Amino acid sequence: MAIDTAFLDELRQRTSLMSLMGRRNKLVRSGRHWKTCCPFHGEKTPSLYIYDDHYHCFGCGAHGDAISFIMQSEGSGFREAVERLAAEAGLDVPVEDPQQAERSRVRQTLYEVMEEVQAVYRQKLYQSEGRGGLEYLTKRGLSSQTLERFGLGWSGDGRSLLKVLESKNITAEMLVKVGLMRVDEAGNPRGELFFNRVMFPIRDRKGRIISFGGRVLGDGQPKYLNGPETEIFSKRRTLFNIDQAHYTLRKEKGAPLVVVEGYMDVIAMAQAGFGGAVAPLGTALGAEQMELLWRMDSSPIICLDGDSAGQRAALRSCEVALPLLSAEKSLRFCRLDGGDDPDSFIGREGVEAMSALLAASRPMVEELFMLMTASDVEPTPERRAVLREKLSSLARLVPDKTLASEYRSTLMDMFFERYRKKGRGGRSDYRPFLERGASSRDFAAERINRPAVGGAEERLNILTAILLRHPEILSQVEQEYSQLALTPSLANLRVALLEWADQCDGPLKAESCRAWMEENGLKDQCEGLIKGPMPRELRAEDDDGLLGVNVLESWWHFYGLVNFPAFEREVQQAVQDAILRAYEVPSESGGGAQSFPDSVKARMRVLEALRRGEQPEIEGRDG
Ligand code: UTP
Ligand code: MN
Repeated sequence: MAIDTAFLDELRQRTSLMSLMGRRNKLVRSGRHWKTCCPFHGEKTPSLYIYDDHYHCFGCGAHGDAISFIMQSEGSGFREAVERLAAEAGLDVPVEDPQQAERSRVRQTLYEVMEEVQAVYRQKLYQSEGRGGLEYLTKRGLSSQTLERFGLGWSGDGRSLLKVLESKNITAEMLVKVGLMRVDEAGNPRGELFFNRVMFPIRDRKGRIISFGGRVLGDGQPKYLNGPETEIFSKRRTLFNIDQAHYTLRKEKGAPLVVVEGYMDVIAMAQAGFGGAVAPLGTALGAEQMELLWRMDSSPIICLDGDSAGQRAALRSCEVALPLLSAEKSLRFCRLDGGDDPDSFIGREGVEAMSALLAASRPMVEELFMLMTASDVEPTPERRAVLREKLSSLARLVPDKTLASEYRSTLMDMFFERYRKKGRGGRSDYRPFLERGASSRDFAAERINRPAVGGAEERLNILTAILLRHPEILSQVEQEYSQLALTPSLANLRVALLEWADQCDGPLKAESCRAWMEENGLKDQCEGLIKGPMPRELRAEDDDGLLGVNVLESWWHFYGLVNFPAFEREVQQAVQDAILRAYEVPSESGGGAQSFPDSVKARMRVLEALRRGEQPEIEGRDG
């Protein structure tokens, strides 16, 4: 007995042909697709291409889908292959029961019913009763080829479908099953769902008609009516025009996959030459639809209307997409202005303009930032804090650690780029200062050292960079370092650094630090810092001659420059504490100097140097 076809569809959908084939031989990217050495005939250069759901070998002609791949490569039978793949996909092969077989037969007949209905609707469009519909569509600029291509039709008056279809043995019950007839309270077929509407067939990936949408002529309500959920139609699991878009992407190299909001937008796009356009079915894009998109393209473009609904839809798409993102699955966005949708935009501005708009689509991270900040031109500090928190919580939705960290740092960069200039009274510096004891007086005091050594941000970068290169000094500066007010991306790095130090058993080594950072997706940021500005005496690649105390003093030097008055107070405090301790703790050798901590001495020397106006030399400021 045959296995239920819906199950087989599901199985094919859940099975990644790429990972299946990747287990045998290495995959190599070739444009939109991947290729690999064919396992069915010996070869050294790959000639087997993997498409979305099938493969083809240009060397030996082997061809098939995931199931036939298992059959061919392992010599197994159909059922055996299905069972193996099902086990991997975590699916149970449906037991062969007559009911199942019956359902599958029913579904098959439902597709056939839809084909018959479609033929009737199409005919009607060109008959006298459909004249209004045809005129409407023509007025909206659709060519006769486009009408054909999308199979548009006319519903009729809502009383004739059954009569026409009876000769084909189609019953009212069948029309109820496909959602084209309503039932009354007793469950009896009552009337047709659609009347006086132009009809848009909705097809699945395989091109089978699974439902219809209907539009009124003019301004009636509801403007669009869609068929209900049925055995063959699930709104969440399909996209309008998915079959033709899929075909276009396969045929036309570089054709973009574009998600638009409405049926008419898809059709206008296709007529303008953008065959890779799809639309959700009157709802927001859901997770299952995103997965459908990513099976066709790793970075589809979401092109939304230029109204506030479009903006809300964009935000919702981001929120749905973030937890699903990976390096291979992303989104791009482009936005229309004012009240435009792609249909009206193409009609007025033309194909070239649409092309340019698509080419200028933004990566998702930028769209996200724009959406989050759209309403706040001059946010208060409180709102900025909320915003920052919101941005990092959005980044946290990305499951892949490395990617999440990239999102977070990019969002934070954009945040600072934006509000540093706008929100701080024209001061272009992000001005961190020691949270402890800092006051406006301290800013005045910063005049002392401002001109010579970079900006405050550079100093904070250097402080972090020194620790990354010489984590051995971390324990001596940990307390002060922990209390520095850092930019979020540096603060993020600091958390990782301190966590690393906490879990280290032995001495703190730069190598192990680097490995930790890499594991946490912070490698690039760390390398950027280490390659960035650095005090000259620490720049030397050969560190052998370097004394730990120099590194420490270097660090204190920059630390002192961040906020000199606070540093001065801290050193004085540390000296006092040390002196007091020297008296309190009786020393066996008798001399107080012995117990005077090196770290305090280092800071005292640095304080003196700063008072003399000595500035460390920095290298690599431009590199
Ligand atoms: P729009 O109103 O933006 O559609 O709704 P559109 O394609 O631009 O419509 P016209 O023909 O140019 O005026 C976008 C989509 O939302 C769904 C439909 O899928 C529509 O294509 N929708 C809209 C409904 O399901 N019901 C409605 O009443 C309106
Ligand atoms: Mn429209």
